[in-house]
This record gives sequence, C-alpha cells and structure tokens, in this order.
Amino acid sequence: MQSTLIWDLPLRLFHWLFAASFLGAWLTTESDQWLSLHTFFGYLMLSLIGFRLVWGLTGSRYARFSSFLYGPRVGLDYLRQAIAGSAARHLGHNPAGSQAVFLLLGLGLLVGLSGLFTQGGEEQQGAAAIGGLSFALGKAIKEGHGLLANLMLLVVFAHLAGVALESWLHQENLARSMVTGLKAAESGAPAARPHKLVGLLLLVAVATFGTWWFFYAWHEPVERLGGHDDAANEAPHVAFVGKPLPESAKWQEECGSCHLAFHPSLLPARSWQALLAGQGRHFGDDLGLDAATVAELLAFAVPNAAEQGATEAAWKINRSIPTSSTPLRISETPYWTKKHREIADVDWQNPKVKSKANCAACHRDAEAGTFEDAAMQVRN
Ligand code: HEC
Ligand code: HEC
Repeated sequence: MQSTLIWDLPLRLFHWLFAASFLGAWLTTESDQWLSLHTFFGYLMLSLIGFRLVWGLTGSRYARFSSFLYGPRVGLDYLRQAIAGSAARHLGHNPAGSQAVFLLLGLGLLVGLSGLFTQGGEEQQGAAAIGGLSFALGKAIKEGHGLLANLMLLVVFAHLAGVALESWLHQENLARSMVTGLKAAESGAPAARPHKLVGLLLLVAVATFGTWWFFYAWHEPVERLGGHDDAANEAPHVAFVGKPLPESAKWQEECGSCHLAFHPSLLPARSWQALLAGQGRHFGDDLGLDAATVAELLAFAVPNAAEQGATEAAWKINRSIPTSSTPLRISETPYWTKKHREIADVDWQNPKVKSKANCAACHRDAEAGTFEDAAMQVRN
C-alpha cells in the first residue's frame, strides 16, 4: 500500500468552499442585517456548483461524475453492507457517498436559485429582479427556499454520518484525505492528476469575487430616520432595479393634478372602487368624471391593486387591512400608520410636507409607487 493522490486540488478546494458557503449562508439567515452576507454566500455557492459541474466532466479521474455514477439502489445496497460492516472499500466516492454528492449539488442549485428569486421578488435586487417578480411571489418562493435549505442540512448530516461510518469501517480518516487528497492504495492503483494551476485559478476567482463584493458592492444598511445620509441612499445595492410598476397616462392625468397620482398598488381594489364611485364628493372636491373615464381608471386600478402584492408596501398594506373595512386613505391603513407613527407633528407641519398624503416629500420613489426603504429622504 502506498499513499496515492485521489482528490485533485480543485476538487478539495471546491469541497471546503462549498461547505463553508453553506455554513455561512446558514448562519446568516436570522436577521436582515446579515442579508448582504447571506446573498454573498448564496452567489458563492451557485458559482462553486457551476465550477463543479464543469469539473465533473473535465477534472481528474476521481472527480469525474462518470467515475461515481451509481443508481440509488446500488447506493442503498452499499449502505446496508456498510452498516453490516462488510462493504468494499472504494478509492473514489463509494456508491452511498455518491448519492450525497449528487443530492447536495442538486439541492444546492435549487436553494441558490430559489434564493435568487426570493431576493428578486422581496428586495427587487440581484440577478432575478429584472424579471419583475412581485413581492408576494418572492415571499412564496422564500418558503420553498427555507424548506430546501432544511432538506439540504439533513443531507449534510447524513453525509457526515456516512463519512464517520466509512472512516471507522475502513480505519482511515476520510476528512483528512479531503484535505491532503491522499489515500492509501495498492501500488499500481491509478492516481489523480494534481491540477494545481486550476486550483490556484479557482482560489483567485473566489478571492476576486469576495473582494469585489465586500469593497464595492456591499454597503452598510441605510440609516433610518435621524442619521440620514443621502450619499448612502445612492449606493448601488439599494437601488430599485426591478421592473417598474405598470403606469397609465389616464390615471396620471385624472389623479395627478391635485396630488401625487397614488399608485393603485397602495390600496385594495375595493378602495379604488369606492373612491371612484364617490368621485363626486372626493375629500371635498367634485372630480367631475364621466362614466367612461371612471371605467377606464378602474380598468387600470383594479388589476394593479394592493392584492397583487407587487411591492413590499403593497403586500404589507393589503395584509394590514381587515377584509371588513374599505379605507379611502392610504394614510389611514394600519400598516401606513404603524410605519409613520414615529414622525413628529412638527415634521408633518413642515411647509415642505403639509399633508400626510404628500408622500413625495419624503419618498423619492413615490411617483413610481415602489416605496423602497432606500429611497427615503427626510428633509429638514
Ligand atoms: C381636484 C383635486 C383632486 C383630484 C383631481 C383628485 N384628488 Fe384625490 N384628493 C384630493 C384631496 C383634496 C385629498 C385630501 C388630501 C389631504 O388630505 O391632504 C385627496 C386625497 C386622496 C386620497 C387619500 C390620500 C391619503 O391620505 O392617503 C386618495 C387615495 C386619492 N385622493 C385618490 C385620488 C384618485 C384615485 C384620483 C383620480 C381619480 C384623485 N384622487 C384625484 C383632491 C383631488
Ligand atoms: C414626513 C415624511 C413622510 C411622508 C409625507 C410619508 N412618509 Fe412614508 N415613511 C417615512 C419614513 C421616515 C418612513 C420610515 C419609517 C420606518 O421605517 O421606521 C416611511 C416608511 C414608509 C413605508 C415603509 C417602507 C419600508 O420599506 O419600511 C411606506 C410603504 C411608506 N412610507 C409609504 C408612504 C406613503 C404611501 C405616503 C403617502 C401617502 C408616505 N409614506 C408619506 C416618511 C414619510
């Protein structure tokens, strides 16, 4: 028996970086404060899987998928033998371990992609934001994201148990082999090529990505009310990159002359119906709209109302309103009052604000209807 290279350098780097990105992402799930770090680990994991897929076709002997393509039945048989203490030793991945490899790669891909879509829908950021996913859809995808991540954690535990069992069974330290790449093999057993250059390039790529993320793309969360910083507001990570909400020239024309043309996503459909039904007595004004105009305005407002959950604001406003009530003011919905309760009277009376309905005085994206956290500005 002699010490033989089984795991090439890129494979070992992949293994530990993949484990670290999963652990890192797992540890940063609890708070929004860690979201940027969490998404970094997610992108890292996806990129690593991308690399592994290529390496599974082009890497050295034991890294190639073709060297450990066993069906689930063979895997289960092997597991049974391993528990009975009679399983044959494999130099590369054994049939049970290979199941864990494919499961972890598949689940990692699904977890990463669902994370991307969650970020696109809920935050309107990242690669999936351009698709115009709604907040509501992002939130639903997030449920699946969490479930898949839990499932992946179970497979990780199974993998660790398998490694322990296998190490005990064949009296060898498999974890150390994944560090050194070496295993004892009969002389003449084929060794892997080390592929040091590819390993080095992989390391450089990960380091470059990390540097770019932490020094250029990542900014501290914007300070809330009080220590407000306009420069931080301009930071690229907080910009709304999603697809703009639907607009209507008619809506703009009829509803934007006295105040901001409030986007329909800010109230439920029944509120717009009630407002337009009462357009003759609109907060003391007669809007004087004919039936055709009312119908045209409703045709825009109803399908784009808060129930669609297009933005976080829409989703949260709608959820906060009891189904038994039909608010005529955005500024009287429970979510709105909760979000603005800390604003002092002097701020409301500020000549630049004057009315609670003057959203644009404090929200630079009021016109667009998105009400992103980052677009807030409180003038003094
Ligand atoms: C002739 C002027 C005028 C026009 C045109 C007008 N509004 Fe208003 N609207 C008002 C006034 C006045 C208020 C009360 C503002 C305040 O309380 O500061 C108001 C308030 C509102 C509010 C409540 C804002 C809040 O406090 O949350 C909504 C919603 C609203 N209007 C929707 C519409 C829609 C939809 C249209 C188009 C069909 C429209 N308005 C057209 C004058 C107008
Ligand atoms: C005087 C300034 C001011 C006006 C006017 C104002 N807001 Fe706000 N709004 C704020 C501040 C400040 C916050 C942040 C509160 C917090 O997060 O604690 C906020 C938060 C929000 C949020 C939650 C954003 C988030 O992601 O946390 C929404 C949605 C919102 N405002 C909608 C509106 C709408 C709609 C109007 C007009 C009807 C409006 N606001 C008028 C100052 C204002």
